Amino acid sequence: QTSIGICLLGCGVVGSGVVKLLREQRELLARRTNLAFDIRHVVVRDVAKHAAGEGNLPYTSNAAAAIDDPAVQIVIEVMGGRDPALAHIERALKLGKPVVTANKSLLAERGPELFSLARKHGSCIAFEASTGGGIPIIDAISRGLVANRIDALVGIVNGTCNVILTRMTRNGWSYHQALTEAQKLGFAEADPTLDVSGRDAAQKLALLSGLAFNARVAEKDIQIEGVADLQSADIKFAGDLGYVIKLLAIAERQPDGRLALRVHPTLVSKSDVLAEVSGPFNAISVYGHALGHALFYGRGAGQMPTASAVVADLVQTAIGVVPLAFKKLNIFPDAAEPAQILPA
Ligand code: HSE
Repeated sequence: QTSIGICLLGCGVVGSGVVKLLREQRELLARRTNLAFDIRHVVVRDVAKHAAGEGNLPYTSNAAAAIDDPAVQIVIEVMGGRDPALAHIERALKLGKPVVTANKSLLAERGPELFSLARKHGSCIAFEASTGGGIPIIDAISRGLVANRIDALVGIVNGTCNVILTRMTRNGWSYHQALTEAQKLGFAEADPTLDVSGRDAAQKLALLSGLAFNARVAEKDIQIEGVADLQSADIKFAGDLGYVIKLLAIAERQPDGRLALRVHPTLVSKSDVLAEVSGPFNAISVYGHALGHALFYGRGAGQMPTASAVVADLVQTAIGVVPLAFKKLNIFPDAAEPAQILPA
């Protein structure tokens, strides 16, 4: 068995899920991969607070020393947000250490620079957990569907908004009641405005479109409208007409090659499969020219689904699949052209 030293940056909802999964499934992972994952450092801001709650973990607040430790081979970033996550990721990449991250906002903003930095130092970034929670959608688009020209992506990619809309539709809850529930369940971002404004969905759409269309897509390229202004009456009227309201993230390739990119509340017929996607579930429809329509459905938010994607990336990185794919596939290549966007 080979031991792989890990540094975990952040130990909140997702980070503690990763620890739990690695501990729980130690034997299964060893049997399947012949690897033993050894958590060498867990970087947190308040060591005393964490040590009191969950003992028996090597907590530290010294991120630089933890990342630099020669025993650390892979760095997992699950702190979220821009700072200090960005500096930590850069530090790891410059040392040639692969990074596994769930940080969609950072990648949507700084992805091109970070991917380029990783290439320069012979490292890589794995980011399955950044979009669609536990659904292996990054893997599907970048590898499984590699032979397809992708014509469109249509998805429910924000669990918080979907919990809100589901509760308002099925349980008659108010918007605020439903948002509180999503926060309690640990689905919402630390700043839930990112969810309800549609920005979180747009950041995920930017990442998915970048992969699907081999282009440089930024959040600012996307027309965004969130759910915060929806009233119970809107939902009721939609229901009376045979529709539910869903926050959809849509990317379509136009005949002239330009991309139409948008996130907004959409009337979805009750007979449409997306109408059935409820609570924190996500669903992403991909239209590939060879495969046709494929739907990827599953838990798109929450502790263990996200941890599932992080640990999958960790394994794929450790066995060399991600580093090789990163090197051989043009995933966010340095020379990617900015996407030609259809004006809103
Ligand atoms: N806040 C996000 C959501 C978490 O609600 O979908 C998963 O990315």
